[in-house]
Formats: sequence, structure tokens, C-alpha cells
Amino acid sequence: YKRITVKSLVEMKSRGEKISMLTAYDYTMAKIVDGAGVDVILVGDSASNVMAGHETTLPITLDQMIYHASSVVRAIDRSLVVVDLPFGTYQSDPKEALRSAIRIMKESGGHAVKLEGGKEIKDSIKRILNAGIPVMGHLGLTPQSIYKFGTYTVRAKEEQEAERLREDAKMLEKAGCFAIVLEKIPAALAKEVAESVSIPVIGIGAGDGVDGQVLVVHDMIGMTHEFNPRFLRRYMNLYEDMTNAIGQYVEDVKSQDFPNEKEQY
Ligand code: KIV
Ligand code: NA
Repeated sequence: YKRITVKSLVEMKSRGEKISMLTAYDYTMAKIVDGAGVDVILVGDSASNVMAGHETTLPITLDQMIYHASSVVRAIDRSLVVVDLPFGTYQSDPKEALRSAIRIMKESGGHAVKLEGGKEIKDSIKRILNAGIPVMGHLGLTPQSIYKFGTYTVRAKEEQEAERLREDAKMLEKAGCFAIVLEKIPAALAKEVAESVSIPVIGIGAGDGVDGQVLVVHDMIGMTHEFNPRFLRRYMNLYEDMTNAIGQYVEDVKSQDFPNEKEQY
């Protein structure tokens, strides 16, 4: 099949075809996600929580993101691979941001980078784009600035924050970003933003008026079970299925049911 590019996503928006996006952090998962037909694979810094067990996304390093991204890139035939720039690798200055983005592109083979924030990182975004690296924006709930807000609750419910988000989205479009993620904001605001820009807006907890949806794959297949926000639809309960399967294995080993005669040489 034809590879998805940043151009295909903009075309999908203009024909009204919704964009599907999921995370993946490793080869085996990325093979399944790509093979199932997901348009965009995000190597999210949520790997900090999901893969490494940290409480926030702040601790994950650029080297660790490159390791995850290179594993994902080796698995894919069709999906566009977007890689998060982790906390601390782009906020100081545009040159550092570009250096970090270049390392991701060269060392992982990913196709684009994602950065959290609006006008405060405008110069960094422009510098990265000038080097020919596609950039996806990320507004609304931005987990790398969790300590500024203190909670993971819905963002931009107040008009002042909503207006700032509208301006930031326009800025990201004007700067040349190929898409924007909107996380956990009111559906009406997300719809309004999606209609106000020509680039695709991909939502997570941002309602049905946007151009595509993204979820963390471990959440939607129910491998995690303690994270239960309203926006999360679980398609499987792998936590339960895996616990049962592994429990059965333990029982079979103990009872000497496994291995049986056919399962040995
Ligand atoms: O890291 C991540 O998984 C993300 C998505 C939730 C958008 O940034
Ligand atoms: Na992220």
C-alpha cells in the first residue's frame, strides 16, 4: 500500500476523511498498529509513563525516545511516524530544538516531530521547519507542563485560555506545521479551531468536530486499567485477558500440565 505522508493528511482533511492515529513505542506493537491500517503512529513521550513507569512525561530522554522511535520505524510499511521531542530538548533555544529534531530524524528514521506549546516555542518550530523537518503542534493539555497547572483536568474552559489557544493554532498553521494535536479541551472549542485552520486537527478528549483522533494504544486495548478518563474508549480488556492467561500458565507449570508430551523433543 501507499505510504502516508504529511501531504496525504492535509488531503484527507480536505476530502473530509478522518485521520486515525495511535501511539506505539516498540517493534512488535508498531507492526500490529501499522498492519491494522492506522494512518499515523505517534512515538509519544507517554512512553515515560507506559513503558518506564514514571509518573510524568518529564524524565524520558532524547536517547530513550530515539530507541523507541527506531524500533517503531523498523516495523512500519505504511504509517507516518511522528516522534515527540521530550521535555528539556527544545525549550531553551531554537538551535537546541533543531539539534534535537535532527538527532531524531537521523538516528531513528522517523518522519516528523511533535512539540508541545504555542507562541513561546514559535522560533524553535520555525527553525526546525526551515531544516525541512515536518512539525506537528500540540495544544490544550500539554503534559510536559503539568507542574505549571498541577492537574490533568480539561483545559481552555475559560475564555482567556480559549482565546490564547485559538491564536496559537493560527500561529502553528501560519508557521507551517502540518497538523495540530488538541488534548482535553471542550468539543465546541476544538471544532471551532479545526474549522479555522486548513491543516488537520487531531483530538484526544477533544470531541467529534476535529479531523482525526489519537489514543494511547495501551489504554485503548485495555492493557492499562488504572487510567479511566471519559474520552477513553476501551476496545479490549487485555489487562484481564493477560492476567488470566499468565495465571493459567503458572497453574499449568505448577501442576505439571505444561509441557505435555507433544510440547517437547
Ligand atoms: O505522548 C503521547 O502519547 C501524546 C498523545 C496523547 C497525543 O502526546
Ligand atoms: Na506526548
